[in-house]
Amino acid sequence: MVLLFIFKSSWDYYKTDLDTLRDLDKAKQILENNWRDGFTIPTSKLYPFQWMWDSGFVSLGTSTYNIKMSLQEIKKMFSGQWENGMIPHILFHSENEKTYFPNFDFWNSAVNAGAPSSPKSSGITQPAVFGFILEDILKNHWKNQEVRDFVRHIFPKVVHYHRFLYTYRDPNREGLFFIYHPWESGRDNSPLWDEAMRSIEILPGSIPPYQRRDTSISEEDQRPTQDKYDRYVYLLELGKKYQYDGKEIAEESPFLMQDNMMNAILIKSNASLIQIAKDLQLDAGEVMEWQALSRSNYDHKFWNEELGMYVAYDLRNEKQVLHREIGGIVPLFANIPDETKASKINTYLEDISKRGFYLCPSFDVDSPHFESKRYWRGPIWPQMNWMVYHGLLNYSFKETAELVKSDLITLIHKLGFFEYFEARKEVVETLEKGYGGDNFSWTASSYIHLNSGL
Ligand code: GLC
Repeated sequence: MVLLFIFKSSWDYYKTDLDTLRDLDKAKQILENNWRDGFTIPTSKLYPFQWMWDSGFVSLGTSTYNIKMSLQEIKKMFSGQWENGMIPHILFHSENEKTYFPNFDFWNSAVNAGAPSSPKSSGITQPAVFGFILEDILKNHWKNQEVRDFVRHIFPKVVHYHRFLYTYRDPNREGLFFIYHPWESGRDNSPLWDEAMRSIEILPGSIPPYQRRDTSISEEDQRPTQDKYDRYVYLLELGKKYQYDGKEIAEESPFLMQDNMMNAILIKSNASLIQIAKDLQLDAGEVMEWQALSRSNYDHKFWNEELGMYVAYDLRNEKQVLHREIGGIVPLFANIPDETKASKINTYLEDISKRGFYLCPSFDVDSPHFESKRYWRGPIWPQMNWMVYHGLLNYSFKETAELVKSDLITLIHKLGFFEYFEARKEVVETLEKGYGGDNFSWTASSYIHLNSGL
């Protein structure tokens, strides 16, 4: 009996190893197939261009086995940086690709005189991931002169990007920047944004006619609803009206959010820039000032004691947005909470794991807004697990960290390299694939990085 048990557990162990080896090859193959001319698309069909934070996570993964590809990815992203410092959330490297809405012609980034004429781009941004990504790459390739030169070259561009956020997006000089479009948050369709989005009134003629493409490519019950989409277009038009960086945006936008997750990622990336500056003897004086201000205001603005978590702040209506969601966990990654707060967040995760969910659902599983299949309203996102895993390790919550990692790996082994995944264990048992786009780049790269031992 005992022997049988030993045999079974070593077989399970061995089999998991085989699964990992098989899937590591597959992951690299996906990234190779999604590679275009110097950058990686998130997935064919649904997202055929270069997305900002996707690109960051991809370069993390590729840096573990093909450093040239990784640096090329970052270089290509910065080729789209605007004069004001903004890095757009999409770069449309190919103008022949017509299957995406809103395409470059709809964004018309030329309304801003400092937007490059090529590559064409969107007019909004995404989470500031490049600081921490560069630090990771530099640390793991310290002896490589090419990498050190590259980081030295990109460093001022990342600083300039952070300068954009502090200059154009922080009207009250709090060190906490706002977003004016849910797409900037990366968590596009989260219930977090519902109330503010509902306050936008769409009158006849207030948005131009448009044709969605996403619902013909992905299943409709996984995508945002139509009335939501009209409001996305409304906010896009509002940005365009003010050249995407005018101060009127803050004055007029009905959607004006300080996103706790994006600000945590900025703080993490600031810390990385400060570290890089030390290592490479560069000047990070300005970054240190921003960082001190951001850190001093973060906790009282975003922590909610009743929910035991960080929440977003609605700057238009001057109130916290009272929902538990995945972004509230990311401050661990930036070493923001003290031990007491961090352990509340850890207990929250332990608890939902015990209740039959894989970690980490993107939205509060007890909320009436939780939808386990729809885009950002509940499912698990691979790159989020990557950040939460490292965040938990920062506080030595090793067991929960391992769960966050192994849950994602289990889901990928069972359901494939999809964009996102079902969180309820009993439902996963009945499924054969994940949700959203297939052969997804950040799923592949998070998988590679998590298995790289770094
Ligand atoms: C979706 C996600 C966003 C991501 C993009 C490309 O819009 O919400 O976070 O960057 O797809 O993968």
